[in-house]
Amino acid sequence: MPNSDNSINEIIAATAGHPGPIGVFDSGYGGLTVLRSLRQALPEADFIYLGDNARAPYGNRSFDLVYHFTLDAVRHLFSLGCQLVILACNTASAKALRTIQQRDLPLLDPDRRVLGVIRPTAEAVGTITRTGAVGLVGTPGTVASHSYDLELAKLHPSLRLYSHACPMWVPLVENLESEGEGADYFVRRDVEAVLTQDADIDTLILGCTHYPLLLNKIRKFTPAHVTILPQGEIVAASLLDYLRRHPEMDARITRGGTTRYLTTEEADKFSSLAAVFMGSPVAAERVAY
Ligand code: DGL
Repeated sequence: MPNSDNSINEIIAATAGHPGPIGVFDSGYGGLTVLRSLRQALPEADFIYLGDNARAPYGNRSFDLVYHFTLDAVRHLFSLGCQLVILACNTASAKALRTIQQRDLPLLDPDRRVLGVIRPTAEAVGTITRTGAVGLVGTPGTVASHSYDLELAKLHPSLRLYSHACPMWVPLVENLESEGEGADYFVRRDVEAVLTQDADIDTLILGCTHYPLLLNKIRKFTPAHVTILPQGEIVAASLLDYLRRHPEMDARITRGGTTRYLTTEEADKFSSLAAVFMGSPVAAERVAY
């Protein structure tokens, strides 16, 4: 039974300041590619992964809906004791993160933190490109938000960014078609569409956490001189750096080495697919909020 707004606020208040797991959120399975790197970087930390599979994909949805869905998820993870939540989803980072940080966090609990994946990726890309021409593939929502353009303009103003939306890539992954022949058609078409915008492009940002699951196909259609940039390791390195700079948050992470998997859809289906992505057994729980 979903909790009412008031009762969830009371539960959040009751867990304020108590150490808890790191929350990792995505619309579906894609954030597991980030979770895997986070667990490698922080093997002793506890994690709760939440996939909003019932409402995925987010990529074609309005700003307003993505914001509300993401806020629901963050509140749920807070109510489970998470003091730190990573939005392991570019679409949510693009459309919801700033509002949650600026408007909701001060009301919910000013000491908790919600971090996204776009800023760390934008920071990293400046040290990788040699030509200054960078390609970005992402969901229609992420590309239309211009979040990467804005971050890169702040951090590395001399870089030229060429974006292309790939509306079919997340559905291919969510429907387990990432190794199928249909994926060849869409991946080739979209990789060509981004890379032909400038022959100097030497770095391709995978600006969606689902896309590493299409890496075999992406590699197949990307020339060898182009560096393909998945986000997992970048986000993990950035979190380690954040925790070094914020020992007060580091101290509020419980360390039992556990991971709990939550989904808003059917638990058995999530468990079997997530086990493939994680390379180890997963026993997911279904949640409603
Ligand atoms: N993994 C999400 C992202 O990074 C997927 C978006 C979706 O649900 O469409 O953008």
